[in-house]
Amino acid sequence: MRILGIETSFDDTGVAIYDNKLGLLVNELRHQNNIHSKYGGVVPELASRAYINQVAPLIKEIIIKNNISLNSLNGIAYTAGPGLVGSLLVGAGVGCALAYACNIPSIPINHMEGHLLSPMIENPNLKFPFLGLLISGKHTQLINAYQLSEYQILGETLDDAAGEVLDKIAQALNLGYPGGYLLSQFANKGKLGRFYFPKPMKYYSNFNFSFSGLKTFTLNLIKKHMYNIQALHDIACEFEYSILDVLVYKSFKALKKTGYDQLVIAGGVSANKKLINLFKKYALIHNKKLYFCSPIFCTDNAAMIAYLGMIYLKRGISKKIDISIYPKWSI
Ligand code: KG4
Ligand code: ZN
Repeated sequence: MRILGIETSFDDTGVAIYDNKLGLLVNELRHQNNIHSKYGGVVPELASRAYINQVAPLIKEIIIKNNISLNSLNGIAYTAGPGLVGSLLVGAGVGCALAYACNIPSIPINHMEGHLLSPMIENPNLKFPFLGLLISGKHTQLINAYQLSEYQILGETLDDAAGEVLDKIAQALNLGYPGGYLLSQFANKGKLGRFYFPKPMKYYSNFNFSFSGLKTFTLNLIKKHMYNIQALHDIACEFEYSILDVLVYKSFKALKKTGYDQLVIAGGVSANKKLINLFKKYALIHNKKLYFCSPIFCTDNAAMIAYLGMIYLKRGISKKIDISIYPKWSI
């Protein structure tokens, strides 16, 4: 079985092909960073316009370059939500049109479920049930993953997502967009201990998060120390650590509560090396099994969409022609 996956939820165009015998055959990504970076964030109108120019040509390029026949495809999986309406519509429109033309099923995929199960691409040992920590640009959620399609959100951010605040602070420091990686690099030149930083909701009995207050606190501190570069490195270091500390503490508390032995970390922020090292350290202490992805599968990609499409199609779940998108689709 061979599935073409299309990812167009936000601002990255991804196209991938997953074959159930041969594994991932192709995984290509085109960024729109040059379009959005001057605005410090994604401009929805520009994103959908860029998608229109990127999606179909990228599919054509991949198919020709890799000598893949459209006849060899058994289905087309596309991100149906959550995401920006205009962005989702382009991928869904192209995916469903191609599926219709090839007379094969189209499979609408939840982007966050794609992230959550993406570690399975590289770790076939990972099986349900497990605890999931989803950390991306728009989500911070602790998930009880019972089985495919059956998830319970144990806790989530009450305001900003972890990736969102990393991007905002990176922007305030003029580091560029997207900011998570750049902020982490900047923070490497800083030291902990110079400033006292809050650890929002760390000791609350529930599993929710809140990062908006931490963002405001950090922005105020940046303003105060704008002309002291070492202070700015120290602030970035302390800010990044506060986020990681809360994430790791609450994840292991949720593991204790659920009794699971397996923890999956997924989403763009899980590309953070310091975060992975901290989680590895805790996993060793608490004797838990940790699953995460290589950086290319942490951030938005179509491999996770094609892979999940294959799993759903094997179970007979697909659509024939209607184009479905759900901009606020919860996992
Ligand atoms: O999963 P993702 O690619 O897109 C969404 O579904 O939102 O996540 C994007 C987020 C951005 O906030 C970006 O700054 C963050 O992931 N990110 C990182 C790193 N790479 C991407 N954050 C911290 N460290 C990184 N290396
Ligand atoms: Zn994502």
